[in-house]
Amino acid sequence: MTDKLTQNKQENNDYLVEVQSLVKWFPVQTTFIDQLFSKERDFVRAVDGVSFNIRRGEVLGLAGESGSGKTTIGRVTIGLEEKTEGNVLFDGIDLSTLSAEELRKLRRRMQVIFQDPLASLNPRMSLGDAIQQGLKIHYPETAKDHRDIVLDIMEKVGLSPAKFFYNKFPHQISGGQRQRVVIARALVTNPDLILADEPIAMADVSVRALLLDLMVQLKDELNLTYLFITHDLATAKYICDRIAILYLGKIVEISELEEVYGHPLHPYTRALLAAVPVPDPHDRRKEPMPKGEIPNPINPPPGCRFHPRCPYAQEICSQEEPLLRELRPGHQVACHFAEDFLNA
Ligand SMILES: Nc1ncnc2c1ncn2[C@@H]1O[C@H](COP(=O)(O)OP(=O)(O)OP(=O)(O)O)[C@@H](O)[C@H]1O
Ligand SMILES: [Mg+2]
Repeated sequence: MTDKLTQNKQENNDYLVEVQSLVKWFPVQTTFIDQLFSKERDFVRAVDGVSFNIRRGEVLGLAGESGSGKTTIGRVTIGLEEKTEGNVLFDGIDLSTLSAEELRKLRRRMQVIFQDPLASLNPRMSLGDAIQQGLKIHYPETAKDHRDIVLDIMEKVGLSPAKFFYNKFPHQISGGQRQRVVIARALVTNPDLILADEPIAMADVSVRALLLDLMVQLKDELNLTYLFITHDLATAKYICDRIAILYLGKIVEISELEEVYGHPLHPYTRALLAAVPVPDPHDRRKEPMPKGEIPNPINPPPGCRFHPRCPYAQEICSQEEPLLRELRPGHQVACHFAEDFLNA
């Protein structure tokens, strides 16, 4: 292992990432005529006031249905997308205070593993060159070491023997191996934070557990911190230390993994957990699945955003928005009636 990949991380405070009251709205595309006659513009409220921290070395999961804002939170957190409001601090540095050049330099420490390895790899670039790209951008001064660093990281992610894979192209290897290339490419710049956005969703079932094992092993070996996005609570259970459940741009429940899985306090979390297949049919939670689909984030329901689908909703739920409250140590939930589940 080279110095570049094992150097110590700065340890100024407990948190590598601090996200405070983050809001990200996207303007809805309208025609010029529409803009002339309408007083207000519509916005997709993709993220609508989300706060969380990630400790160094921790895996924080973000889970929720499609469209709940997971990817948007991830992209804003690593500075790929600008926030609308709120603060994002990486290693104590407020991203909004950085120039484009400073942000580009900092990005070496925040890398992404996307869902679809085929889409994120150039079909005409060899695997070695693809993995090497980040080094070329961030460490041009050490060009003579790049090949060795790439071979080293290829071995680490299981593309072994690395020399055999180095000159191959994406179409010449399996889907699982392609995802290993994407992981290697993210790790090659020696990052601190990995944003893993559904990293195994496209992989064959047979290799998913292997890829998750690999990610856990690399995290320990390379002192990584993960923001792990998934819509699948079974996957989250395998890898996350803490988990935030998202619904329509807001966190509805957040805690340590065992807390959320053992004592789910939000009806939405309870329904999501009930949908996770378990080997023992008698062990299955009897919880109704939420009715209908996730509503439109352009015009979210008033009060609790989940109320139109919630089997326990009462009048107050459509009127007052429930705030996140700590009902068990380190366990926060945003539901007016969460106490009802404390002893459930
Ligand atoms: N660039 C964009 N412009 C406009 N709307 C966007 C943009 N990116 C995301 N959105 C909208 O923001 C909302 C949240 O999207 P996001 O991709 O963050 O959800 P997600 O939880 O990652 O969903 P999925 O599980 O399908 O990946 C969606 O309604 C989406 O249509
Ligand atoms: Mg997404």
